[in-house]
Amino acid sequence: MKQYIQKIKSALDLNELEKLRIEIFGKKGVLASSFIKLKSLNGEEKKIFAQELNSLKQELNGILQKKRDFLQIQEIEKKMQEDSVDITLFDASCESGALHPVQDTMDKIINYFLDMNFKIQEGPLVEDDFHNFEALNLPKFHPARDMQDTFYFQDSKLLRTHTSPVQIRTMLNTRPPIRAISPGAVFRRDFDLTHTPEFHQVEGLVVEEGDKVSFSNLKFILEDFLIHMFGDIKVRFRPSFFPFTEPSAEVDISCIFCKGKGCRVCSHTGWLEVLGCGMVDPNVFKSVGYENVSGYAFGLGVERFAMLLHQIPDLRSLYEGDLRLLEQFK
Ligand code: PHE
Repeated sequence: MKQYIQKIKSALDLNELEKLRIEIFGKKGVLASSFIKLKSLNGEEKKIFAQELNSLKQELNGILQKKRDFLQIQEIEKKMQEDSVDITLFDASCESGALHPVQDTMDKIINYFLDMNFKIQEGPLVEDDFHNFEALNLPKFHPARDMQDTFYFQDSKLLRTHTSPVQIRTMLNTRPPIRAISPGAVFRRDFDLTHTPEFHQVEGLVVEEGDKVSFSNLKFILEDFLIHMFGDIKVRFRPSFFPFTEPSAEVDISCIFCKGKGCRVCSHTGWLEVLGCGMVDPNVFKSVGYENVSGYAFGLGVERFAMLLHQIPDLRSLYEGDLRLLEQFK
C-alpha cells in the first residue's frame, strides 16, 4: 500500500488526486479492504497490523491534504496567468471622455486672448464689498447693486458677482501697462432657463499711461474676438450703462441661428447680446490711485457663449451631469 504515497506525490492535477483518494479511502478502496482483512487476524498480530494500518491511514491522509493544497494553489495561479490582462494595451472599445462644453468654450476664449498677448490674472471667489462694488464705482445703496443679486456671508464677505473685482486687484498689484484677462466662477441668486447661481465669466482689462487706449482699440479687439469665436457674423455696439465704465456698451452679434432674419432665439430681433464693455471709469482709476491713464474693460458670460456655440436650449442642463448631453461633446 506504500506505493500509494508515491502515486499521490506524483499526481499531476486535482482530478487525478480525487481518483486516488477514492481508490484509497472510498468504500471499496484499499483501506477498507485492509480493515476487512484485519477482522480475520487474532491477538498480537491483529494489534500490530491495526497499528500499522492506522498510522498508514494517517500518513496517506496528510500527504493527500498537502498535495491537494499545493495543486489548488497551482491551479489558481495558472488561471490567473491565463486570465491576466495587459492594461497598457490599446482597447478600441474603451469609452473616451471629453471636456465639458463650458471648459472647452472657456479654453477657446482664453487661448484667443493669450495669442493677443493678454496675461491671466485670478482673484478669490469670496470677495469683500470694496473689490466687488465700492472700488468699481458702486457705492453703498447705489441702485445698480440690484443688477446683481448677491450671496452675502455674515462677516460682510460675499461671493463675487462678477470677475470685475479682479480688475481692482490687478491694478492695485501692478502698474500699467496692463493687458489682463480674468477667467473664473461668479455667483448670483438666480435660477432659470438662462441663469444658474454659479456661472463663469472672462473679464478683460487693458490700461496704459496717458491717453493711448481708445474706444476703437476696444472695438477692434472685440470684433476680431467675436468673429474668431462665431465665424461669419456682424457685430454691433449698443450704448449701455455699467458703473465701472464710461462710456459703456453692450455688444451684439447677428443671430447665428437665423443669420439676422429674426427667430425665437433672438426674440425676432436678429441680434444676440454677448458681452458688456466700456472705457474704464475715471472713478475706478481714482479708487486704485491711478492718474493720467486710459483703459478699457469688458466682461462676458462663458455659459452664454457655450449655449450659443453648441445650441443648448437650457443652461441648467450643463450642470446636471447627464451623460446623454455630455456624450455629444466628444
Ligand atoms: N461685470 C459686468 C457684468 O458682470 C460685465 C462688464 C465687465 C461690463 C467689464 C463692462 C466692463 O455684467
